[in-house]
Amino acid sequence: MCGIVGYIGKRQAAPILMAGLHRLEYRGYDSAGIAVGNKGTLKVAKCKGRVRELDELKPQRFKGVMGIAHTRWATNGEPSDRNAHPHCDSAGRFAVVHNGIIENAAALKAQLAARGVTFSSDTDTEVFAHLIAMMDDGSPLENVVSAALRLVVGTYGLAVIDAARPDVLVVARNGSPIVLGIGDKEMLFGSDSAAFVRHATSMVHLDDGEIAVVRADGYETRKLDGTSTVKTPSELVWKDEAYEKGTFDHYMRKEIGDQPDAVRRTLGGRLEARFQTTHLGGIELAARDLLDVRRIKILGCGAAYIAGATASHLIEQLARIPTQAEPASEFRYRNPVIEMDTLYIAVSQSGETFDTLAAVQEVKRRGGRVIGIVNVVGSTIARECGQGIYLHAGPEIAVVSTKTFTCSVVALALLAIHLGRLRDLSNANGARLIKGLEALPDHIAAILKREDEIARLAECFRKAEHAFYVGRAAGYAIAMEGALKLKEVSYLHAEAYPASELKHGPLALVTPETPTVIVLPRDDLYRKNVSTIEEIKARGGPVIAITHPGEAHVAFDRSFEVPLLEPELDPLLLNIPLQLLAYHVALQRGCDIDQPRNLAKSVTVE
Ligand code: AGP
Repeated sequence: MCGIVGYIGKRQAAPILMAGLHRLEYRGYDSAGIAVGNKGTLKVAKCKGRVRELDELKPQRFKGVMGIAHTRWATNGEPSDRNAHPHCDSAGRFAVVHNGIIENAAALKAQLAARGVTFSSDTDTEVFAHLIAMMDDGSPLENVVSAALRLVVGTYGLAVIDAARPDVLVVARNGSPIVLGIGDKEMLFGSDSAAFVRHATSMVHLDDGEIAVVRADGYETRKLDGTSTVKTPSELVWKDEAYEKGTFDHYMRKEIGDQPDAVRRTLGGRLEARFQTTHLGGIELAARDLLDVRRIKILGCGAAYIAGATASHLIEQLARIPTQAEPASEFRYRNPVIEMDTLYIAVSQSGETFDTLAAVQEVKRRGGRVIGIVNVVGSTIARECGQGIYLHAGPEIAVVSTKTFTCSVVALALLAIHLGRLRDLSNANGARLIKGLEALPDHIAAILKREDEIARLAECFRKAEHAFYVGRAAGYAIAMEGALKLKEVSYLHAEAYPASELKHGPLALVTPETPTVIVLPRDDLYRKNVSTIEEIKARGGPVIAITHPGEAHVAFDRSFEVPLLEPELDPLLLNIPLQLLAYHVALQRGCDIDQPRNLAKSVTVE
């Protein structure tokens, strides 16, 4: 999903826009571009590749105090110089940057072509630039943009500038996030606040169907029909330095290292020793309502879905409520039965994932109750849910999620204890789990100190092209997360399976070149897992065990032991070595760890 940024003020726009693009690059990084308005003309630079390649075109030299810029994750039109944004009309007067998909672009394109318009790219966005030019009747730019948008079907977070109207830029939102940044006698906007955190003191989130008319001295918002809307600026939660990599080579490694503090922030003020329970101020449902909950459905995509799958075991064990996790898109398109005594939980670090947002809207449309487990404060899913638990994990820039996975499971553990202590979870068990959560950050820190051991484990993957990750119950969910991380950053084909399923087919793929990582807690399924290891070993497959200290009842090829904590919380620790393993395998293979190919941090299109 693309990142867009804009500036209008007294200072030279280009350096500010380029810095904003570097901050947004995790949203999409296959091409980038910028347009700056000055003395009735537009200066445009764009190219295929990273923002650093755009830097080489020296756009920082462009003069002008107003401009827009874009970093792309291609949807319509392959990554190329001509498909890069901004897109302009034939006269080069209007420039547009866009995050989203214009579904009726082909129809609009045909109408414009019939009126003699020619196109220089394969994108849907260029169509909109020509549409604006065609519809410009000299009225205020916001009226022209609104009129054109009324013809558009699709999703967008977009911005328009006009060389002939240098004192204004217009942004609009329908489905893709746009945040305005309020500075001192200057205004900015971005797909998220990372783009302007250095220059703004407060921010305003646009809602779907809204446009904003942005000038150096302020902004006004309205609906497409012209009706004004009122916004309440909110404080910028994360400061500029939180977005920096510090001394780390990669954001992924920095964010793995952030976990002890991030978990402390997720726990902050939420452990209540008096009643051996948790305090969740962001959940407005009263104890009475929570007692009526008969079922829990956790919705999310990718690692967020897997965080839900991991925590579903915890919630069932502690609160004895049937709990299931489901990929959000699968849920919303299978015409789900929404039950009033089911609590729906949407998990999303970015709070902008389109499929999860749409699932939340579907549950609400049918009268269901939904809460959010979200990292980005003020994000769309958080506002749509209206209640839930913020992770406070800090910005997560690397495309692969690490600390927000851990903090999401911790947040769901807090909820499990809360629901359990409203039911049959004893005081003693409440106390045991709270003590376990309090000890979690130090245990994570202890594992991180043994990174070298894990870097050596990565050697097992040097010649591998395929790998298996297996486990049972919550161990299987952690195996899914481990496999996802390895796939995302090292491009090694990794499949996760319930350990018991191997002999029903996948065992055919076990060879001496295919390592199997087994998540092997010392729990009541330990013996069952030992037999799985024996099955693999019998076929010459190398086995790497992520386990707990103690006598090994079977010969693994390699192993890594994590400290024992509480059975319900052990999956959180067993996952940490898998994060570092994926990191070191990717490092070994020279992969682009923070910006893996074909991916983006926040998936805002369907
Ligand atoms: C995880 O490493 C991936 N970046 C991806 O699977 C991610 O979890 C998914 O896109 C959901 O993102 P969200 O948590 O921001 O909703």
